[in-house]
Parts: sequence; structure tokens; C-alpha cells
Amino acid sequence: MFITLEGLDGSGKTTQARLLATRLEADGVEVVTTREPGGTPLGEQVRDLVLHGDYVAPWAEAALYAAARAQHVDQLIRPALERGATVICDRYVDSSVAYQGIARGLGLERVLELNLAVVEGLLPEHTFLLEIDVARAAGRMGAELDRIEREDDGFRTRVAAAYRKLAGMFPERYVVVDGTAAPEAIAEEIHGALGR
Ligand code: TYD
Repeated sequence: MFITLEGLDGSGKTTQARLLATRLEADGVEVVTTREPGGTPLGEQVRDLVLHGDYVAPWAEAALYAAARAQHVDQLIRPALERGATVICDRYVDSSVAYQGIARGLGLERVLELNLAVVEGLLPEHTFLLEIDVARAAGRMGAELDRIEREDDGFRTRVAAAYRKLAGMFPERYVVVDGTAAPEAIAEEIHGALGR
């Protein structure tokens, strides 16, 4: 099973990835937890380039995330799924569609098409969107902001709206969760939604 977590920075995805992994492992499932950008040595290098450099042109940004994702699917996600493991990925294709496609204005369809090409059509069975208002998300970001986190509230508002739109476009895999609830309660809801 392939599961992704999506949401604004500060929505609690990373905590939920960890809590879900613990629960599934207790069920006896082999779990691989990973994140984007990252998950492979090349992906981690791309992460550095895209999050910690100076100005990056919008299509360069989209292409760098896509390059990291292509490597991630090839080296880690697909092999894990093929041996029967469950993969929990903190951000995936939908992050690029929301951030680069919609918030940066490159176009939902074009960024989705690029990403479907690089992952050879691999989409998750379940995507959990952790919803949280923009002000609260900004308040939860750490002290050292990366290049994307330094964007303004207008950008974050567009990302939040983009995720809503994606949830409506892909109702068969999206579950929208209240990201302001207690972490353990959210984890129970996600675990329950998987039929466990
Ligand atoms: P993330 O790992 O969630 O941030 P952190 O480690 O700081 O919690 O993601 C890093 C940033 O990259 C985040 O602001 C969202 C952005 N991003 C995109 O813009 N497009 C993408 O395709 C991905 C995967 C992330």
C-alpha cells in the first residue's frame, strides 16, 4: 500500500507519518517511511539546492522536485512496494501540483503531467490532507525558514486552496483530516480510515 501525507508546512505531516508507521508496524506490516524532497542521496542533494539556495526560477524549482521524485520512485518507493511493504511518504506529486502548479502559477495540468511522467503513473492509494489555517501553520514553522517557507501568507493561502481542489479532483484517494486536533486523535482517525 502506498500512502502519502500532504498539507502546509506546520500542518503536522511529519508527526503523523511517524505515528502511522508505529501503528502499522504494531499491526505487523512492513513499513518504509520516507519524505520529499529527499529519500535518496540524490534527492537529499536536490533538497539542499532547492530549499537553501538563492533565487530558483519557477520551472527550475518544479523540475528539481520532479528530478528528486523520479529518483525516489525508482530507487526506493517502487522497490519497496514490489516486495510488499507499505510506503508512507511525507509529500509527493500533490505537493508539486499545489506549490509549483497552483501557488507559483505554472499550471495544475502541466505540473501534474510532468510529475505523472517522472513517476510513470505511480499514484498513492491513500492521501491524507492535514488541514490547518494559514496563520496557525505559519505560527508552527520553526525559527529557521527555508526558501519556500519565506513565501508570504498569500502564497500559503493559494497552497491551501490548491489542496482543497486536489481533494475534490481525487476523492477516491483523498481523506481530509482536521490538522488542529490532538496528534493522537488524528493518528487514530488516519489508522481507522485505512480499515485498521
Ligand atoms: P518539507 O520537507 O515538508 O519541509 P520541512 O522539512 O521544513 O518540514 O518540505 C520542504 C518544502 O518544499 C515545503 O515548503 C514544501 C516544498 N515543496 C514544494 O514546493 N514542492 C514539492 O514538490 C515538494 C515535495 C515540496
